[in-house]
Amino acid sequence: MTLTDSISTMARFLPITPISSAQSLVPPLEKHLVRGADEESGRVLIVDDDTDARAWLSDLLAAEGYRCDGASESQDPLNCINELTALVILDLHSPAMYGMELLRRITMEHPGIAVLVVGGQGDVAVAVRAMRLGAYDFVPRPFYPDDLILRVQRAFAWRRLIVRNHLYQHELESAIELQREALTLALGELRRTYQATLEALTGALDLRDKETEGHSRRVTEYSTVLARAMNVDDDALDVIRQGALLHDVGKIGIPDSVLHKPGPLTTEEWALIRKHPQIGYDLLKGIGFLSEAVSTIVLRHHERYDGTGYPDGLRGNDIPWGARIFAVSDTLDAITADRVYRKGRSLAVARAEISRLSGKQFDPKVVEAFMSIPDQTWYTIQNAVAILCSRMQGVNYAHYRSHD
Ligand SMILES: [Fe+2]
Ligand SMILES: [Fe+2]
Repeated sequence: MTLTDSISTMARFLPITPISSAQSLVPPLEKHLVRGADEESGRVLIVDDDTDARAWLSDLLAAEGYRCDGASESQDPLNCINELTALVILDLHSPAMYGMELLRRITMEHPGIAVLVVGGQGDVAVAVRAMRLGAYDFVPRPFYPDDLILRVQRAFAWRRLIVRNHLYQHELESAIELQREALTLALGELRRTYQATLEALTGALDLRDKETEGHSRRVTEYSTVLARAMNVDDDALDVIRQGALLHDVGKIGIPDSVLHKPGPLTTEEWALIRKHPQIGYDLLKGIGFLSEAVSTIVLRHHERYDGTGYPDGLRGNDIPWGARIFAVSDTLDAITADRVYRKGRSLAVARAEISRLSGKQFDPKVVEAFMSIPDQTWYTIQNAVAILCSRMQGVNYAHYRSHD
């Protein structure tokens, strides 16, 4: 577990759900819809078993500039539809399975093709059924050439509208996708900026207080391990990591003469030191993405389970859960980390002390979780942070602590 974990954790602050191709807003544009979009490129398929009627219709439309294909019952008209087919003129009196079934299949399988249905004069019920099945228009026999040409023109105009609408929707979807990608990049940059801000604040603390170098990073990882052992979810884990990293930021407001005083502190100086949770809270409370971490850990990290902590003497579960977890981590590091004036003590000492203070300074459930975690886990964290700190200083690292 390294600091990289905290970066990946930050990446969860602003979750983005990508739009998959399966969630495409617009169905794929059919090739023939575009290629046969106008009278110049679009073709008319005339489905009629009567060869003479088909030829007559074809000649009539050809004279108006339309290009026509023909199909009869022996040729499956569905197989005659191609990329350029824009309009089908379907004689409903064609025998076999055709007629209504053929109409249904054309409108289902080729929703961009206009279908003019030809039927007998007065076939109102047939006309209504055909329109319900998706026919664009119903043309009664006998044909009136001008009327037929007008209906064909209207059908092509309808198709142009459909094509424009499809293209517009696709352009819109592409624009949304581009904006989504831009937003993803911007949010990624924002996360990196957030993380850099946290690192800078922690670095400022470390620079000022060399004695506790790496402390913030170690307690962040300790708290993460403890929180995971207590089955805390990922969002809550983000909060505890932020809070742990920044818990002592309020010490910026404590004078060096007090913070680094070699001798014992006076009552007034202790009162000053005890202000650092509130100072940290006041410093960071305006930063929206840190608000929960600041109010639950930065402000509460010196509260004690038995109510003897500060700043408000909160007791038991009134202390936010994150602060109760953090309190154990903080003490673990206080006991085991090296100081200028003394070597850190062993994990066995830390376990005994934390166990002794269960129900007093610490939440017993957190202590139970702490005791269940093997020593090796804590050593791994200590070594990882030692390596990180050494690299940041540009010096070779020495093992933080042996494993025995
Ligand atoms: Fe503190
Ligand atoms: Fe601390």
